Amino acid sequence: MTSNPYQDDRGNKDRTITNPSGSTMTAATGTDHEMNTGHAFLIGDSMTGGYGKTGPDILHDCTIAVNRGEIAVIVGPNGAGKSTAMKATFGMLHLREGSVRLGGEDITDLTPQARVAKGMGFVPQTSNIFTSMTVEENLEMGAFIRTDDFRDTMAQVYDLFPILKEKRNQAAGELSGGQRQQVAVGRALMTQPKVLLLDEPTAGVSPIVMDELFDRIIEVARTGISILMVEQNARQALEIADKGYVLVQGANAHTGTGKELLADPEVRQSFLGG
Ligand SMILES: Nc1ncnc2c1ncn2[C@@H]1O[C@H](COP(=O)(O)OP(=O)(O)OP(=O)(O)O)[C@@H](O)[C@H]1O
Ligand SMILES: [Mg+2]
Repeated sequence: MTSNPYQDDRGNKDRTITNPSGSTMTAATGTDHEMNTGHAFLIGDSMTGGYGKTGPDILHDCTIAVNRGEIAVIVGPNGAGKSTAMKATFGMLHLREGSVRLGGEDITDLTPQARVAKGMGFVPQTSNIFTSMTVEENLEMGAFIRTDDFRDTMAQVYDLFPILKEKRNQAAGELSGGQRQQVAVGRALMTQPKVLLLDEPTAGVSPIVMDELFDRIIEVARTGISILMVEQNARQALEIADKGYVLVQGANAHTGTGKELLADPEVRQSFLGG
């Protein structure tokens, strides 16, 4: 076992996304703050299905879940069905079998928009911002279902990602990769979600910016928001994961705590580069 380089590198190095004032996000009001009972807050349970009515099954009895205030990470090879599992959980896919439950309620038949109203936020892998709109307009779009005053939430997003405040009147398409991902996460936070689904939030960013984004994600989770995320940076993501899922060909290959998966020789050999 080598020492963990991620651990050694932790810390706010990239000033552009550093929040010097510490934790500022607050979870949605009105949530019950029950302790972790071991029952998942969000679960895509034994999901089987594919794209369209006649498409082949991509997911095969696939289960992904996250407890309240925890971070669950989905890893696996390209094409394994990670994004598909996220989309299925968010209601963008017809499930032939299985169910999705949120806070104990069966939401399998709800539309994505209805799921947002129930407290789900989703940041897709691609096209997750409006590039021709300003940063602030993107955040406003994120608040689309809200009829109340969302200025406090916007202030919280700006506290979490100070660079977005600085660039709030700039077109989002002019931002760097890491900054765009902050816009995407910030947009999803505007509905005050109870659970955030993030599909590769650190795609295409440098290791330092990845580290920073993970720090911000941990900060969000500490406010009580559950995080279910897909990550290509498997080792680093599992370091911060309460729960980890390795998907292969649309099915669960390995499941455990982040620590367990990192220590599993087979997982290390096949998915973490030894
Ligand atoms: N919109 C779609 N219509 C039909 N098939 C799709 C669609 N999106 C993905 N697929 C298929 O589903 C399978 C799983 O793709 P998916 O995008 O879920 O993988 P992934 O694990 O997220 O991969 P990556 O690591 O590259 O993001 C692939 O065979 C892919 O071709
Ligand atoms: Mg994907």
